[in-house]
Amino acid sequence: MNQILENHPQHRKTLYGRRQSRPLKDRQKTLFDTLLPAITFSGLENELFVGQKQIWVEIGFGGGEHLCKQALSNPDVAFIGCEPFVNGVGSLLSQIDDFNLKNVKVFQNDARFLLEVLPSASLDKVFLLFPDPWPKKRHFKRRFVQKETIREIHRLLKPGGEWRIATDHAGYASWVKEQFSDPEISALFTWQRQDVYMRPDVNEWPETRYEEKANLAKRKSAFFSFLSK
Ligand SMILES: C[S@@+](CC[C@H](N)C(=O)[O-])C[C@H]1O[C@@H](n2cnc3c(N)ncnc32)[C@H](O)[C@@H]1O
Repeated sequence: MNQILENHPQHRKTLYGRRQSRPLKDRQKTLFDTLLPAITFSGLENELFVGQKQIWVEIGFGGGEHLCKQALSNPDVAFIGCEPFVNGVGSLLSQIDDFNLKNVKVFQNDARFLLEVLPSASLDKVFLLFPDPWPKKRHFKRRFVQKETIREIHRLLKPGGEWRIATDHAGYASWVKEQFSDPEISALFTWQRQDVYMRPDVNEWPETRYEEKANLAKRKSAFFSFLSK
């Protein structure tokens, strides 16, 4: 368990979903020992975040393809990638090593712990791409997009900061629309994209593995962008 969690008395939230699917490749095992300790997120006091740089956070980066592309295209931005899934972290570590990326820190746990310890108005962008849809009604409370997390992300974004959400699950897309249409939430965010089914420019918004899977299965994806008021 990393230091942020050890210092956190409210270690109470339940994380649903798998932590690991298959054994790590030998190279990834080595990178867990050699690279991960050096790039584990330990706070905004770290030199990567000090100065005028923007900070972008990706929640549930999966295999890390989107995070890696964004970090390569935006070398002046400092990134925090958050993912509890061990194989996903292994995949991101390989890419960080391949491209010698110096602008990424990793938080290998539930994003809600990370959000709680970050100071208000500290982030410029947050990405939540293809979150687990939890399609059954009794599991809706497990969905990452909830009033509580929306308020929390609003607290963390600078005014004008952007929260991007994508999903290929029609029920989740309706859920997002519903949550953000609530009068209390509409007071916090402005909708940026009216036609959420129009695919944004891939250079601006690179594809993820789950989007590729959705395309292969001919499922339409929705792309939301909300600006913090
Ligand atoms: C369906 S996958 C999508 C992965 C990736 N974003 C993509 O589009 O390919 C959802 C990911 O969110 C991660 N996840 C689920 N709950 C999370 C949480 N509370 N904090 C951070 N990541 C979470 C899962 O481990 C999983 O890798």
